[in-house]
Amino acid sequence: AGEDSFANRLLDWFDLNGRHDLPWQHPRTPYRVWLSEIMLQQTQVRTAAPYFERFVAALPDLAALAAAPLDDVLALWSGLGYYARARNLHAAARLCMECHDGELPRDIDALIALPGIGRSTAAAIAAQAWGDRHAILDGNVKRVLARYHGVHGWPGTPAVEKSLWTLAEDHLPQARLADYTQAQMDLGATVCTRGEPACPRCPLQVDCIARTERRTAELPTPRPG
Ligand code: ADE
Ligand code: SF4
Repeated sequence: AGEDSFANRLLDWFDLNGRHDLPWQHPRTPYRVWLSEIMLQQTQVRTAAPYFERFVAALPDLAALAAAPLDDVLALWSGLGYYARARNLHAAARLCMECHDGELPRDIDALIALPGIGRSTAAAIAAQAWGDRHAILDGNVKRVLARYHGVHGWPGTPAVEKSLWTLAEDHLPQARLADYTQAQMDLGATVCTRGEPACPRCPLQVDCIARTERRTAELPTPRPG
């Protein structure tokens, strides 16, 4: 897969067109990557960025987060919504202090075992924080893969989701996993968007099934009913 043109074309595109100035990229520590991924689960980058800056200014590392009263964490989250995210973040920080020597665990299954971290979020953290080779599959990536490979069927269906995970894993490059992870999110957010995608600007356009079959409006298949 090191030669896979999907990943290489995406990385070349990312170098010129991706987002390289996000607050959690500088510096890119495991704690900051984790916090950003939790915020970005339900919140857009533009909205999350100022909350992120305020949060890390008040609670700069995992030990500070674990030591803070829950009310302080909820106050820092105030305005972002989905407050279970803040509660889980706080509980996970305390678990890391107790069970993982005060660090976010690098092991993917240990990450998934923490509250608030599912398979895709764990992979996004591991890839960006340590460059580990794990596939992400959030809404953006599902849309890109369903279109590129012409995968029909609602991605919420277990069988469809399973095939999308397999495709995501098959495309993983051998290196630059942090950039590759961000590149997929950026392509989904800025080019292969919901509604009408900007295929003429897409690095995947030459062999994208949805593009060549003129089916971008049909894919991904909407939730039935
Ligand atoms: N959504 C989830 N993670 C993201 C990231 N790192 N950048 C942009 N959008 C995201
Ligand atoms: Fe999405 Fe169009 Fe790119 Fe295909 S060519 S991946 S539909 S933006």
